[in-house]
Amino acid sequence: MSAASERLQKALARAGLGSRRSCEELIEAGRVTVDGAVARLGRRIDADSVVVAVDGVVIGLAADLVHYLLNKPAGVVTTADDPQGRPIVTDLAPGEPRVFPVGRLDIDTEGLLVLTNDGELAHRLTHPSFGVPKEYLAHVAGRPSRAAVRALRSGVDLDDGPTAPAKVAVVAPGLLRIEIHEGRNRQVRRMCEAVGHPVRRLVRTRIGPIGVGSLRPGRWRRLEPPEVRSLERAATAPGERTGGPPPR
Ligand code: URA
Repeated sequence: MSAASERLQKALARAGLGSRRSCEELIEAGRVTVDGAVARLGRRIDADSVVVAVDGVVIGLAADLVHYLLNKPAGVVTTADDPQGRPIVTDLAPGEPRVFPVGRLDIDTEGLLVLTNDGELAHRLTHPSFGVPKEYLAHVAGRPSRAAVRALRSGVDLDDGPTAPAKVAVVAPGLLRIEIHEGRNRQVRRMCEAVGHPVRRLVRTRIGPIGVGSLRPGRWRRLEPPEVRSLERAATAPGERTGGPPPR
């Protein structure tokens, strides 16, 4: 059967929204839209070409979408193609289907990176208007004073403008946990430098609801459908959400 004749509840179930029956219930309750219009039960879709949302959260339904979580080691470039021939992140995950990194970690930054061929989710995870929080552990030079931590929290002046308020916790002397949701170039390094504590080592430990868990540096794993759904929810702007309980 071609993707063009797939039943909506089948595509939703394949994407991990629940059993076919519970996906039928979502449709019957009017919680599912196709290209912005509330879907009726029995609707068939081409999952590659329509935008489907549940409670306003856009759901990736194309059959060949893959989502990997990589724990990037230092020394690897965040790109799918490096003309200089350096090690690249896409070499650390399966090559087929082709995936690309979502956002960028500096070559020396370690930690979580999503690799996917899901352009819609990639856009939402990186665009500042969706505000998906990313958490870092920053090993910095010296011991930041309370005033320095306060400045990091409230926003520091960078050459491309002040930073938005951030969550900052002192984990140990010289070790900060920093959560930001802007994702400007080298932002954490520049913030720490601006308050007089250059970063010595930087590790991204969380992207929205997804933490590093037991994934070792240099290793990847597939994101489970419920994890992809949780990323989609995290990457939904408040104005896009509609009523009803969140999708499973
Ligand atoms: N902030 C940085 O400074 N570098 C990164 O790689 C990510 C966030």
